[in-house]
Amino acid sequence: MAYWNRRKRLDSLTTGISGHTLKPTLSWPHLIGLGVGGIVGTGIYTLTGVGAGLAGPGVVLSFVIAGIVCACAALAYAEMATMMPVAGSAYTYSYVVLGELLAWVVGWTLILEYTVVCSAVAVGWSGYASGVIKSAGWNVPDALLAGPHAGGILNVPAVLISLAVAGLLALGTRESATVNLVLVFVKLIALGLFIWLAAPAFNAENFQPFMPFGFAGTEIDGVKHGVMAAAAIIFFAFYGFDAVSTAAEETRNPSRDLKIGIVGSMLICTVIYMAVAAVALGGASYQSLAASPEPLAMVLRNLNHPVAATLIAGAAVLALPTVIMAFMYGQSRIFFVMARDGLLPQRLSALSPRTGSPVLMTLITGVIVSIIAGLLPLNEIAALANAGTLFAFIAVAVCMLTLRRTAPDFPRKFRTPLPWVVGTVAILGCLYLFWNLPLATTLRFLVWNVLGLAIYLFIARHKSVIAVAERAG
Ligand code: ALA
Repeated sequence: MAYWNRRKRLDSLTTGISGHTLKPTLSWPHLIGLGVGGIVGTGIYTLTGVGAGLAGPGVVLSFVIAGIVCACAALAYAEMATMMPVAGSAYTYSYVVLGELLAWVVGWTLILEYTVVCSAVAVGWSGYASGVIKSAGWNVPDALLAGPHAGGILNVPAVLISLAVAGLLALGTRESATVNLVLVFVKLIALGLFIWLAAPAFNAENFQPFMPFGFAGTEIDGVKHGVMAAAAIIFFAFYGFDAVSTAAEETRNPSRDLKIGIVGSMLICTVIYMAVAAVALGGASYQSLAASPEPLAMVLRNLNHPVAATLIAGAAVLALPTVIMAFMYGQSRIFFVMARDGLLPQRLSALSPRTGSPVLMTLITGVIVSIIAGLLPLNEIAALANAGTLFAFIAVAVCMLTLRRTAPDFPRKFRTPLPWVVGTVAILGCLYLFWNLPLATTLRFLVWNVLGLAIYLFIARHKSVIAVAERAG
């Protein structure tokens, strides 16, 4: 069979994996926790300011647009994850529906996405952590609180948090998911406190002019501005529910728990985000939000709530690592499944007999994440993460629509409502957001995939488990 056309069989996915499997230890509260833990993070806590700088008050519209695209993608994910409750997420769905070559591209892209998301969140976390360090009066040189792009040497807090989370994950899935659940509550309570304290100071004048840089985009100093350019960055705030699908194989009752985890976490976060974004813009000018590395804490400080500002910053410091945890977890699992399929080195994905998790891969991921986080700026890392995610979302929506035609009778525990509308909105919406990313991001994304394709064509396609089985006859 031609290599690009090699496919996994849909009906053999849940059987036939012997020995090399992950332990089922999770149920739906863990999955909602993993989802919300993955979604609420640097996007709402920090990129709200970056988005405000790109779109002005119209960033609330950017939130709505990115939210709609993500909601459509989440529905497609829920259908695919319950049809194929095995590890691998968009990569596995693509292997079944689109063939090995495209599956490789999706998997290779997911590895990039999950790695750089962790780095981006570590940098966002460092913004709040540096604020706390300074207000506590600790004398840490600025050169150690920011990367070279911001006049520093190394973003040490970002490096340390990346390594700490990798260590926690290496201790085992179960413990990590429980810690995650507690921290998710901290994060949500902090956002609730923000809404409660900032809402009474809502000033409608902050929304004038609503779209100072227009809707579709204007270029200023080589940077795309406008509501859509901001949506392409704010998109970062909404994803994370996809990490739930990577836990499919470790879920006790996948057909029930996955759909609750994916759709539930997305709904909870969308409602909270709309409120936080509106209240933040009503509480401060978009220029001041754009200039702050810790915009939510800044709004409360300006509104004369210094204690609450410190609490919000403290909650961010305590709880943003849940996002890194969700994505680092997803990353090591994607790698694990690609290695199990023979496309990446199997040695790297060996499971620890004690914890049942891929320890070596988790630690390697931690080191790479920390290097990127220590050296590069937040907006560039976040944009690259978005490119990878948008690509994966398009693949999942295409898989969902294709299977509706090719396997209409295969049992589905969750069916996307109005699949052709939802699938098309997801695909076109993601394409349009991709188009609005900075050009440099698109180029980096292409370079990563050219490298990936070379590895696939020269090495991986010969080592694929399906190829080996074909040769054996
Ligand atoms: N949605 C995640 C965040 O905002 C990636 O941090």
